[in-house]
Amino acid sequence: GGAVPFLGEHQAGITTPAQDRLHFVAFDVITDNRAELVDLLREWTRAAARMTAGRDAGPVGAVAGPAEAPPDDTGEALGLPPSGLTLTVGFGPTLFHDPSGRDRFGIADRRPPALADLPHFLGDALDATISGGDLCVQACAHDPQVAVHAIRNLARIGFGVVSVRWSQLGFGRTSSTSRQQATPRNLFGFKDGTANLKAEDSSLLRQHLWVQPGDGPEWMTGGSYLVTRKIRMTIETWDRTSLAEQEEVVGRIKATGAPLGGRGEFDRLDLTATGAAGQPVIPRDSHVRLAHPDTNDGARLLRRGYNFVDGSDGLGRLGAGLFFMAYQRDPRRQFVPIQTRLARHDAMNEYLRHVGSGLFACPPGVRADDDYWGRALF
Ligand code: HEM
Repeated sequence: GGAVPFLGEHQAGITTPAQDRLHFVAFDVITDNRAELVDLLREWTRAAARMTAGRDAGPVGAVAGPAEAPPDDTGEALGLPPSGLTLTVGFGPTLFHDPSGRDRFGIADRRPPALADLPHFLGDALDATISGGDLCVQACAHDPQVAVHAIRNLARIGFGVVSVRWSQLGFGRTSSTSRQQATPRNLFGFKDGTANLKAEDSSLLRQHLWVQPGDGPEWMTGGSYLVTRKIRMTIETWDRTSLAEQEEVVGRIKATGAPLGGRGEFDRLDLTATGAAGQPVIPRDSHVRLAHPDTNDGARLLRRGYNFVDGSDGLGRLGAGLFFMAYQRDPRRQFVPIQTRLARHDAMNEYLRHVGSGLFACPPGVRADDDYWGRALF
């Protein structure tokens, strides 16, 4: 139920041990006025600092204000603890150049080269209405009401400056970002997050997660790039697949999470081992082989995804899947080559459909009380 510190060198919500619940939102900026946008970022930062400390969004609060005015907090988190709430902001490519190429806010020359639009991947079935966005906020907490309250209040504060483009609830983490956490399971029933980058891997985090001095642009130093993918999982088909087939698709043992041919969950993958007939123990088209750093010139990701079920699809199937989120130092060298390989060869594709996509530059942390989200950018 405790609070996660809001101020710091890096934004919270990235290496913070993954909380249980997610409410993610992408906004479009509906003003062309730079000062209005900057004022909103300042106001959001103050509200985020308060809410992550377990307080009301505004200084007056949900119930202490004048009876004739709408309250500066909506009230549904009254009495709830901070619940590990983190709020993490990101800037999408369209903030720098809108779809017609216009530089609405005079920041086009500050667009990071690493924030290059993602290519089309084989099999993509993206729906534009649940993709993209000028800004995003990731709210993670151990209580879903706390995460939803935070996003709702940011949207309320942003009225007239931003509008919600899409949002996604996640009900269970599919990743560990710390060695103190047990590995959770995704909706295929497999442990997910075993080989993730973890908060304790400080030198790997410098190498693969945080934008380093000299990477450019300077305003992103200490930040990270976020790729989101809404991935529908056809679980009804998966559920009719044999256990052995499921394990071959993933490349790990369902019970323990150990790699095929290994014993313990954290045993290293032996990509060279071969079975009786000379075929690899970890199949060539298995997910873990294709996603592994040895197959991808050493590229790694910090995965921070969530399970979702958005009701059912009207055809007797659950609208289930994984809201994939991955943080990294440069998507051009990490997510893009890994996903290109997975899209072409992964046996798991038979059960997956990528329906939403997002790319965001998440600036470094807010360092002092007068600092605000994206100050170095504006
Ligand atoms: C590993 C499931 C999508 C990248 C894993 C593992 C599972 C899994 C069960 C093994 C446990 C672990 O090490 O975490 C899924 C499911 C997906 C999905 C169900 C879609 C719904 C993706 C995507 C990417 C990705 C889109 C990146 C483009 C990775 C990486 C690993 C991994 C890098 C670790 C590989 C290693 O180093 O051994 N995934 N995954 N996954 N996945 Fe995925």
